[in-house]
Amino acid sequence: STPKILAFAGSTRIESYNKKLVKIAAAGAQAAGAEVTYIDLRDLPLPLYDEDLEAQEGLPANARTFKDLLIAHQGLLIASPEYNSSLTAVLKNAIDWASRPAPNEAPLAAFAGKVATIMSASPGALGGLRGLVHLRSILGNIKVLVLPDQIALPKAYEAFNPDGTLVDPKQQESIQKLGDSLTKILLKLN
Ligand code: FNR
Repeated sequence: STPKILAFAGSTRIESYNKKLVKIAAAGAQAAGAEVTYIDLRDLPLPLYDEDLEAQEGLPANARTFKDLLIAHQGLLIASPEYNSSLTAVLKNAIDWASRPAPNEAPLAAFAGKVATIMSASPGALGGLRGLVHLRSILGNIKVLVLPDQIALPKAYEAFNPDGTLVDPKQQESIQKLGDSLTKILLKLN
């Protein structure tokens, strides 16, 4: 069956480089035959995770939506900015909410057994690579299989064309390839 991939960035910024980046990978996945759902975490604002809030009110509606989207997809394409050498609080917070157990759901229902490809873009020279180290570790610990290939795109301020594609055709191809490879692996796992 057609692999279903959820694509999103760990940034809410409207002009986010990471949103642009993950959309390129998503196009690569689509071209390889995946059904891709792109979501913007700006559309799903969440309170900072608080155990008391959860006990009083349960999962916020947007966390439930995010969790259901994760449950409905086998593959994940995630591009996260690096903030102070780690992933963004927005992304970690969304992961934390979606990781919470619920009655009638398997433990880590949103994450266990998913296959993910991660990437980053940054104005800096390392492209956000240090953040990916943390993101990979976190996802692995919640039972996501994170594929070995990842890309950290440096100098993001000069990397993109106005239409969202990458200036360097080789870079464009390698980001698309991330989505292509994820799709092919999901097809093999089917
Ligand atoms: C940053 N930025 C940043 N960049 C980086 O390469 N390494 C880092 O450690 C940090 N730290 C950091 C902390 C905070 C609080 C902010 C707001 C920013 C810069 C960051 O890469 C830049 O803002 C990107 O444009 C963010 O990604 P999006 O939103 O364009 O996808």
